[in-house]
Parts: sequence; structure tokens; C-alpha cells
Amino acid sequence: MCGIVGYVGPQNARDVVLEGLRRLEYRGYDSAGVAVLTGEGMATAKRAGKLANLEKVLAEQPLPEATIGIGHTRWATHGGPTDRNAHPHLSADGSVAVIHNGIIENFAALRGECEAAGVEFASETDTEVVAHLLAAEYTRTPEGPGRLAEAMRAVSRRLEGAFTLVASHVAEPDTLVASRRNSPLVVGVGDGEYFLGSDVAAFIAHTREARELGQDQVVEIDRQRGLTVTDFAGTPVEPKAFTVDWDAEAAEKGGHDWFMLKEIAEQPQAIADTLLGRLGDDGELVLDEVRLSDQELRDIDKIFVVSCGTSFHAGLIAKYAIEHWTRIPVEVEVASEFRYRDPVLDRSTLVVVISQSGETMDTLMALRHAKDQKARVLAICNVNGSTIPRESDAVLYTHAGPEIAVASTKSFLAQIVACYLVGLFLAQVRGVKYVDEVAAIVDELRQLPDAVARVLTQMEPVRELGRSLADAGTILFLGRHVGFPVALEGALKLKELAYIHAEGFAAGELKHGPIAVIDEGTPVVVVVPSPRGRSVLHSKVVSNIQEVRARGARTIVIAEEGDEAVVPYADHLIRVPRTSTLLTPVVTTVPLQILACEIADTRGFDVDQPRNLAKSVTVE
Ligand code: F6R
Repeated sequence: MCGIVGYVGPQNARDVVLEGLRRLEYRGYDSAGVAVLTGEGMATAKRAGKLANLEKVLAEQPLPEATIGIGHTRWATHGGPTDRNAHPHLSADGSVAVIHNGIIENFAALRGECEAAGVEFASETDTEVVAHLLAAEYTRTPEGPGRLAEAMRAVSRRLEGAFTLVASHVAEPDTLVASRRNSPLVVGVGDGEYFLGSDVAAFIAHTREARELGQDQVVEIDRQRGLTVTDFAGTPVEPKAFTVDWDAEAAEKGGHDWFMLKEIAEQPQAIADTLLGRLGDDGELVLDEVRLSDQELRDIDKIFVVSCGTSFHAGLIAKYAIEHWTRIPVEVEVASEFRYRDPVLDRSTLVVVISQSGETMDTLMALRHAKDQKARVLAICNVNGSTIPRESDAVLYTHAGPEIAVASTKSFLAQIVACYLVGLFLAQVRGVKYVDEVAAIVDELRQLPDAVARVLTQMEPVRELGRSLADAGTILFLGRHVGFPVALEGALKLKELAYIHAEGFAAGELKHGPIAVIDEGTPVVVVVPSPRGRSVLHSKVVSNIQEVRARGARTIVIAEEGDEAVVPYADHLIRVPRTSTLLTPVVTTVPLQILACEIADTRGFDVDQPRNLAKSVTVE
């Protein structure tokens, strides 16, 4: 949700910033803009729409060479996606340029104050107010090193809401300052150069050495004085150093048409990497990173899983597995609802927050609420050093690697696997499963990368089917047990990528109303459970297929190899390898991802950057 880039160093800032924006465009693509600072002053360019629009402008009217630059790619909140509302925003006197990710909640009052002082606003954004406040504060701040940072601290103390701000001032041609509260910002440290980014993708082509910024901190990067971090009061802070564990190649398409296709193809690796080092040879799980003592884990009497969107679907799957393996009651809730209904939480509650980005504001706020209520919080997260794991009591990282396509795929499968690990680990520590039982499931987990790889080799008929469904008006998805969240995920993928109306249902629920929408030819995708584990469940779903078919549905059936019972009722049959019931979502999700991708592609849409969306949703 808005990508931010900053650069200070010997390279041409314009090029470094544009390259960073290319890598961050998945965070928002309503508009893009750049400002560079030279001895002559500030030069800016900005355009509504995707980065390509800005690049076209810059090809005709290049910005001057400069060693300081900032850039922004926007997901609109305050003010429509227009040229005027694109960042950077300038102060009225042109001295300050600011870019921003987040929402300044008290901007109306601050804007009123600026207007009363005679400032005329050039945009409808909440951000612009910061440019004016910063210019005014700068004039009141004593001259000397660190003046812009001091002004930024004073302004930041007045702001409410969520913000990452990066600013430059014409009087300080060697300096950038940035401030953060509730929004992401990382610093890249190169050889005589510094980078600022919403995430490390912004500078991964230049350096893997990074610094994590904490809540309510201001950073100054200056060509002479280097890097200085303080809190909002001005007290120096030592930022935490880390090395990025993936390289620039990981954030390239690698020969695929879309990042999403590359990320789908990477799923076996994402699962294998998430399991790596966590499965002991004796079948025991080794989760050293879960910084909760055995006693704390034994004291848990209730679990909440809280997350959003696709991560919420991972949570729904987690419920089946964790309850089954541990016998601890599990509730799953969308993060945006969680804290508003006053959930019952205490020291013996474990709240598992799941987030690919680690920055989702709804999830972060739910986490903070849980901590306020003294619950223990365990984060399952894909982005090292992001806010959610930093604020949690414990963290289990998914090692899916960078996910650039806006729609989650490999991080979803990695999240499901991480949830299995949490469930099994709890069962192991609490002694509710025999060691050999845990070892048997661990053994099955080890087979999952191969199973997913096998699904991926059989996807041509699914692509063909996708092409034939491109004109569908609505597509329904049905599943029972763990197949239900898979159906929800299949419907979500289709909606967000192909803009086709889709809904996921618990297959048994259809007859209570929704079956009325089925008409001649309505495509209905059914995720069928294994006939082996819980055959009652299987036979019920086979009945559900017959029910929709009797009403004219075109049935698309996802069933395991060897399940012959579904054959007579399937207009299209997609086979997946056998896995035990609780683990099936890892294989049954894959054809649904491919299906959505193919339908979107056939309809001519941008699969990686669907309309109205952004990768990391940092507003509530
Ligand atoms: C859908 C999708 C979103 C995210 C959701 C949560 O494909 O990507 O629904 O899953 O916005 O994001 P994270 O996991 O980053 O908290």
C-alpha cells in the first residue's frame, strides 16, 4: 500500500529511485512520482496511473542528474488517483518535497490550521499538510546539522495515524529524512550510499545490508554524516542491522509471463524451505524460534487465529488441524472485526496472527489489542523484520521468498504448512500425541513439495478449462471440512484477478439457499475430500455434486487420484495426488490458482496488479 523509495549517494538518484519504484509497484499503482534535489533546487515529475506513464514522461523530459532522490507509487486513500494527488507533494514555497505511506488521521484539523495561516493546498491528499508543516517548522528550527531531522521530529509528534514519511529540503542538498509510525520503512546501507524503502525490494539490486527502524523513529541519511536514528524526542537509537537473505534475482520474473505464475511454480520450494530445519530426524519438531516456554504452551486453553484475506483462509485451515491434533478450541476471525467485538482473551490465550507482509494494519491492530489483553501472540509471517513479527511474543517465519504478485499464492501454501507446524508442535509439547504419531505426520509433510510439484506438471487441462470459462458470469466454489476454506480461496483468487463474481460455500450449506442461483451451465467447482480418511464426508460431497448437476451446473471436480466415485458427475475432472485429509489444501489449492490466473489472462487483465488492490494493506 504505497511504495516509498529514497536514495542518497554517488549514483544518479533518478535512475536508482525509478528502479526501486519498479520493484515496489506491486504495493500500489494509482500514480507514481519522483523528486530529485540538485544544487539548483528541486525537480519533480508525477503522473496518475501505472509507473509506465511516469516513465514515458521522463523519457521525453528527463529529470536532472542528482545524488538525492525520492520516489512514490501510490494506492489512493485521500483524494482520487490523479496527477494532482500523486506524490511527492511540495510545500507552498517549494522548499520541501514529501512522500507518504499511510493515513494521517488528524489531517483535517492540521489542514485547517495551515489554511488559516494563508496556505493554499494544491491537492486533496492528507500528505500535503506535512509538506507545509515541515516547511514552516524548518524556519523555526535553529540552523546547524540535523535541522531537517529536528523539524521532522517536531512535525511527527503532531501527527496521528499511520505514516512513513520521507522528505527533502532545498537548503540541505545532501540529506534525506524519514519518519515512521505504524507503516513500514527499512534502510539499505551500501558503500558510501544509503537507500530508504517500504521494503527491501526497493534496494536489493544494490545492497543486502539493511537496518530495521522501530516505531516512532526518525532517520537522517546524509552524505557526510551518514546514518542517524532517533526517537521522536531526539534520543539517539541504534537501529537493528540485518542481512537480506534473498537476492535481486528472486524478485524477477525468471522467464514467466507473470510474477504470479513464477510464484505458483515456486510453491514446492516455498513449502520445503518453510519445513527446512524444523523437522528433526527422530520425527520431533524443532521450533526454536517460538520463543514461548513449554510451560506457557502447556497453559494455553484457547487459540484465536486472526488474519485477513488469503491469510484468513490459511487460518480457517489451521483450525481444523490444530483442534484435531491438540484438542484446544480454536476460533478464527478476520482481523478487521477482532478487536471491535471485545473478544475474551487472557494470559492463557494464544493469538496466532498470520500475515505475508507483516504490515497489514488490521492484523497489526488486532495483535496490539491481544497484547493489551495479556494474550500471548505468535506471528506467522513471510517478511523478516516487518512490524507484525517485531511486535509479537513469538514468530514462525514462512520462507516463501519475495512475493511480488499482488495475489498471494506461494505464501498461502507456506502459511498453511506453518500452521501445521504450530499445531503439531503444540501437540508434541503438551504430550497429546504420541511421538510416532507426530513423526508420521511430519513424514507426510515432507512429501508435500513433491506432491505440489506433481500437480504443477498436470495443469495444461486446467489452463484450457480456464480459457473456456473466460466469459462466465459467475462461478461457485464448494468444499467441506478443509475443502471449505480452499473453496473460499478459489473464489477470492477468481474475483481479485478476473473480476468475475465468485463465491465459496460450505458444500452442505448450498441447499439452504444459495443453490437457487444455479442455472443451466453455471460453473461450479467442487473440492472433493479423500474417499479414504473420512468416507462419510466424501459421500456427502459426491451427493452435493449430484444436487448441483441436477440443476444444470457445469461441474468442475477436484478429486484425488483413484477416486472413481466422482467420475460420473464431473464435467471436468482435475486430479491431485493422495494426501491425508488435513493436508489436502496444499494440493487442492494449486489448480484453483492456475484457473484464476488463466481466466484473468484470457480476459486481458494484468494478473500481477489487479485493479483497486495493493499488496500490503497498511490502512484500516
Ligand atoms: C489475496 C491477498 C490478500 C492478503 C491480505 C492479507 O490474494 O493477497 O487477501 O492475503 O491482504 O495480507 P497479509 O498476509 O500481508 O497480511
